[in-house]
Amino acid sequence: MNLSDANGLEDVPLFDPNLVREVNFKECSGTYNPEISPESPGEGLLMRPLKISDYDRGFMELLKQLTVVGDVSREQFEARFNSMLGCKNGYYTVVIEDTTCGQVIGAATLAVEQKFIHECSSKGRIEDVVVDNKYRGKQLGKLLLDFLTLLSRHVGCYKVSLECKDQVVKFYTNFGYVKEEGQNYMCRRF
Ligand SMILES: CC(C)(COP(=O)(O)OP(=O)(O)OC[C@H]1O[C@@H](n2cnc3c(N)ncnc32)[C@H](O)[C@@H]1OP(=O)(O)O)[C@@H](O)C(=O)NCCC(=O)NCCS
Repeated sequence: MNLSDANGLEDVPLFDPNLVREVNFKECSGTYNPEISPESPGEGLLMRPLKISDYDRGFMELLKQLTVVGDVSREQFEARFNSMLGCKNGYYTVVIEDTTCGQVIGAATLAVEQKFIHECSSKGRIEDVVVDNKYRGKQLGKLLLDFLTLLSRHVGCYKVSLECKDQVVKFYTNFGYVKEEGQNYMCRRF
């Protein structure tokens, strides 16, 4: 039995699940045809916060469709999840589960950084947006992005940003994201 299992923590959500319906999705940027929403993402699909048990529903395999993940043991996963959970209102990883097969088929994260500037406001960053290649083209990437963008405002961010490769710039411009004049993204890798 896993440690989290023994403690009954397997199904603790990373963030308040009520946020999935509290965000006013009518204000989203995308148009949906057929109509879907965070509360009704499609037949057999469920949008909800990440849980520890998603380790066994293919969450880490899904992330491998995005970038290098490496070998992450369940213990490592649990420790990272609990550390994120401890940063109250800091991490919002939302997943889409195909309940017919019990697999996580889409995921994205909003990380919220607390600031002193802008009257002690917060800045959001959207990270690790991925939809399983068998489920692409069904508006789910759009749904994840729209939801997290609206959520960032709902939880008090004064702005939200993201980094992406050239080939997905067009995807993000659909949601009001722009390359800001005179602003540069700089990075040093280790
Ligand atoms: C990018 C990704 C999340 C899109 O997911 P998806 O569920 O297939 O996207 P959707 O079906 O919601 O498509 C929404 C819209 O974006 C467009 N779109 C989708 N992928 C796109 C891409 N790579 N580039 C440009 N436009 C794209 C679609 O044509 C659609 O346009 P429409 O609304 O005018 O019809 C998915 O392709 C993916 O997981 N890719 C691999 C991981 C990745 O690159 N993530 C982004 C990291 S920065």
